[in-house]
Amino acid sequence: MAVTGPPALSGEPGAGPRLRSRSWFGDGGKNGFIARHHLRAMGRGSHNFDGRPVIGICNTFSELTPCNGHLKILADAVKRGVLQGGGFPLEFPAMSLGEPFLRPTSMLYRNLAAMEIEEQVRANPVDAVVMLTGCDKTTPAALMGAASAGVPAIVFTGGPMLNGRFKGKDVGSGTDIWRMTEELRAGTITQEEFTEFESSLNRSAGHCMTMGTASTMACLTEALGMMLPGGSGLPAVDARRGTLAEETGARAVEIAGGDLTPQRIMTREAFENAIRVNAAIGGSTNAVVHLLAVAGRLGVPLSLDDFDRLGAELPLLIDLMPSGRFLMEEFAYAGGLPALVNDLRDRLHPETVTVTGRSLVDNCAGAEVYDREVIRPFDNPVQPAGQGTAVVRGNLAPGGAVIKQSAAAPHLLDHTGPGLVFDTLEDYLAVAEDPALDVTADTVLIVRNTGPRGYPGMPEVGNLPLPKKLLDAGVRDMVRISDARMSGTAFGTCVLHVAPEAAVGGPLGLVRTGDRVRLDVPGRRLDVLVEDAELHRRRAEWQPPNPPATRGWTYLYTRHVTQADTGADLDFLLGATDSTPPRQAF
Ligand code: FES
Repeated sequence: MAVTGPPALSGEPGAGPRLRSRSWFGDGGKNGFIARHHLRAMGRGSHNFDGRPVIGICNTFSELTPCNGHLKILADAVKRGVLQGGGFPLEFPAMSLGEPFLRPTSMLYRNLAAMEIEEQVRANPVDAVVMLTGCDKTTPAALMGAASAGVPAIVFTGGPMLNGRFKGKDVGSGTDIWRMTEELRAGTITQEEFTEFESSLNRSAGHCMTMGTASTMACLTEALGMMLPGGSGLPAVDARRGTLAEETGARAVEIAGGDLTPQRIMTREAFENAIRVNAAIGGSTNAVVHLLAVAGRLGVPLSLDDFDRLGAELPLLIDLMPSGRFLMEEFAYAGGLPALVNDLRDRLHPETVTVTGRSLVDNCAGAEVYDREVIRPFDNPVQPAGQGTAVVRGNLAPGGAVIKQSAAAPHLLDHTGPGLVFDTLEDYLAVAEDPALDVTADTVLIVRNTGPRGYPGMPEVGNLPLPKKLLDAGVRDMVRISDARMSGTAFGTCVLHVAPEAAVGGPLGLVRTGDRVRLDVPGRRLDVLVEDAELHRRRAEWQPPNPPATRGWTYLYTRHVTQADTGADLDFLLGATDSTPPRQAF
C-alpha cells in the first residue's frame, strides 16, 4: 500500500530544482526519514513526498482576533484547492493581532508577527505559502513576512463583515462608533440606544466593513498583486469567498518553487499603483506606514512624499465610510476593486506582474461597474483630486506628518491657533470632560509621547476625543496633532505620525501650551510660531519622557524601531531577503 511504502525518490513528477521541500523530504536516508516519519503519524502517506509542491497555509485564526475567527473555514477551502492542484497542504498558525484586545496597541506587535511569519516560512519545508489574514495588522505583517522570506506567497484576506444595521439604517465599523460615542457624551442619545447600537453593528464574521485599515490593506494587497482579483471585497460570509479560497490554494501550487516571488511582484511600480489606488478608495492613513514598512523589507525606495505626490493625482472615487456613505458590501456588489482598477487602468503602471502571472491591469480588464453611486466616474468623484492624504513638514515635523484631508473639516485645513499641550494621552483624558478646560474651537490640541518608541507602539489615538466643553457648544471638529496613528475608520482634522516623535527628541516635545501653532495643508506646512532661539533654549532643557523598557519584546522593539516616516519597522529587518533552506543540524 502506498501509505506504508517507501517514498518515491526517483523520477519525481513535478520535482524541480527549486522546490525547497525536497531538501527535507527528498532524501532516502536518515535525514529524509526524520523529516517524513512524523507526518506519517498524522496519516500522510508516501504520495505526499513524491515531489509534489508543499504549500504552507499560514493561518492567523484566533478567538482573540474575532475578525479572523472564520479563517479555519477558509483554510479548509484553501486545502481543497491545494489538493485539487496536486500539492501537499500543511497548515500552521501564526501570531494573530486583534485590534479590540491587544494592549497597549496591536501595532507594538506588527513587526514581531512579521518576523515570526518570515522565520516560520524560511525554516520549514514549504515551496509556497497562502497567508490568511484579516484584522488590521495581520495583513501588513503577512506582507512584510512574505517580503523577507522570499518564498512565493499569496495573501488571502478573510473579507469584510456584512453591513451593520441600526434603526433601519446601515452603520459602519469604527466610524459610527466614534460618532455615536460623541453623541452619547453630548447627551443626544441614551445609554440604552448606545447598547442597542453595539448589538447591531457586527452582524457576521469578517473584518471591519468601512474603508478602515483592514479593508484598505486588503485592497492594497490586491493592488500590489499579492492576492487573486476580487479577494479584497467579497463579504466574509459570501460563498464565493470559499470558491476564491480554493482557487488561491490551486494557484499556490502552480507558483510553488518558481520565480514569482514577493520581490518580483512588489516592485516600485506596484507600490505606485497601490498608492494611486489608496487615493481613489480614500484609504486609511495607516496604509502609509504599512506600505513604507513592506517596501523597506524589499529595499524598494519609497518615501512619504510619494504618497502626497502620487495620491494627489487621483480623486476619491469610492463613496465609502469614513469619507463617504456606503460600506464594503456595496463596494463588492458594485464590482469591487477589479472594477475600480479597470476604471483606473490608464493611470496605473500596466506591466506590474501579480500572483496570477498577469499584470494587475490585465487581471481586471473588462471588469464592470454595476453601481455608479458607489464607484464614481471621474467626472463625478466623491472629492476632487488633491484631497487625499497630505504630507506636511515644518519646524514641528521636520521628518513629516500626515493628514487625511477627506476626513477633515475643510475650514480647519489652514488654521492658526493656540496650542493646548499634553505630555501623555492620560493627562489629556483626565481633563477632557472638565467644563472649565481653557479651550475654544480655535485651540490646537496636542498630545505627544504617543509615537513608536514613546507610547510604545504608536497607538491609534490621534483622533483625540473632543473636549466635552466644545461638544456641548456644538463643535464637532478641531485641529489635533500627535505622533500617534488614527484608526482608518476615524475622521477629523488630525495631524498624525509626526516625525521624529517627541520621545526621541523631536520638536513636538518642545511646544508649550499657549504657543501659536500653524497648520497650512495647502502649503504643506506644520509649524510652531516660536523663535528658533527659544526652541534651542527649550531643547537644552528637554529630558526623555519615559524610562526605557528593561525586558522582553518591548525592550527589543524600543531600541530598534524606526520612525513613522520610514515605516516604524525594526532597523535590523530592512533590506535583505533570503529563501534558502537553513542548515540541517542532525
Ligand atoms: Fe479587526 Fe477592525 S477590529 S478589522
